[in-house]
Amino acid sequence: MRLENERVLITGAGGMLGNAIYPYFSSRFATVTATDKDVNERWLSKLDVRDTADLRRHVAELRPTIVLHLAACTDLEFCEVHPQVARDTNASATREVAIACEEIGATLVYISTAGVFDGTKQGFYTEADAPNPIMVYGQTKYDGEREAAAHCSRHFIVRAGWMVGGGAAKDHKFVHHILGQIVSGSKRLHAVNDRFGTPTYTHDFALNLFRLLDSHRYGTYHMVCEGSGSRYDVARHILDISGRADIELVSVDSSYFEKNYFAPRPVSEMMLNANLSALGINLMRPWRDALRDYIVREFPLALASADPNAERRQRPDRRKSSEPWHGIERRMSMGRRSEESRQLKVG
Ligand SMILES: NC(=O)c1ccc[n+]([C@@H]2O[C@H](COP(=O)([O-])OP(=O)(O)OC[C@H]3O[C@@H](n4cnc5c(N)ncnc54)[C@H](OP(=O)(O)O)[C@@H]3O)[C@@H](O)[C@H]2O)c1
Repeated sequence: MRLENERVLITGAGGMLGNAIYPYFSSRFATVTATDKDVNERWLSKLDVRDTADLRRHVAELRPTIVLHLAACTDLEFCEVHPQVARDTNASATREVAIACEEIGATLVYISTAGVFDGTKQGFYTEADAPNPIMVYGQTKYDGEREAAAHCSRHFIVRAGWMVGGGAAKDHKFVHHILGQIVSGSKRLHAVNDRFGTPTYTHDFALNLFRLLDSHRYGTYHMVCEGSGSRYDVARHILDISGRADIELVSVDSSYFEKNYFAPRPVSEMMLNANLSALGINLMRPWRDALRDYIVREFPLALASADPNAERRQRPDRRKSSEPWHGIERRMSMGRRSEESRQLKVG
């Protein structure tokens, strides 16, 4: 990719995925503009993608060659209760982004989800399987996929699985939830054994997305870590990583949490990266390796505060690190440590 010729616009960059995408892409492209409706970083500027006039103003001024469209309503329960907000954000705004990209010949990257599937398949979903969403979030994201494909000829639709990333400040998903309970002193955790998926580490995703863009092979791709597991399996691995054999992990079915997590969830969100593999650029690691990397790098002090021996036991040999993003991640992690330990102690 000729980096000096590319201008990148990112929407929804203030969330979990943007937290990995922005540093990775801004260290490789001369011009990267990161936007969100919530300006929670100094490197973000304001853009609510539902504001079509402001979206068009950004596109006209920046003339991006690549638009990474991350902005989405991602809270499944919020989407169930506010379906119009979900439709406006995930589908209608995507149509406007796609039209704006087509008008200037830009490449559109639309991030989608395993939640477009109904979860009934035995085995892994590939790009050849037909979506059939069972909840508002999945339906609106699938509608967004169709808008992207219908209105922008140079489009990538890239489906992620259970997102892992963001660190203490941005992670609002399962991993941070479990770590928060560990650090707050819980001696018994509960995790669901009847929902299966494929974790997706945001830093691996950023690296693989960069390679995919370079291919110019437009279309639909799955981009998840290798393997699969239940929420229980993920929680078990978190406890193993943190060396907390003293904490009991209770296996429950999803009815245990149905009051708080009332949105329907597919039984299976397990995906395979068949199209990436066909191109020879499937760089995603096994999810257990990626999860270990994430926790050890982003939450070392939190784990150490829960168990004085955990950090020493789990610290990786950084001299062996060869992935290009490790330097960036280490600097980011150092800057966030005091905030991280404060938040986890609260949470
Ligand atoms: N999180 C997952 O498990 C997961 C799994 C598969 C795919 N994905 C997809 O991956 C992409 C990135 O999501 P993420 O994991 O980074 O989730 P996230 O942390 O919720 O990030 C999404 C970001 O978009 C922002 N946003 C929401 N509405 C917006 C609007 N109208 N205009 C501009 N920004 C808006 C959000 O702001 P607020 O926080 O203020 O709402 C948030 O900063 C999304 O397209 C999502 O559908 C996510």
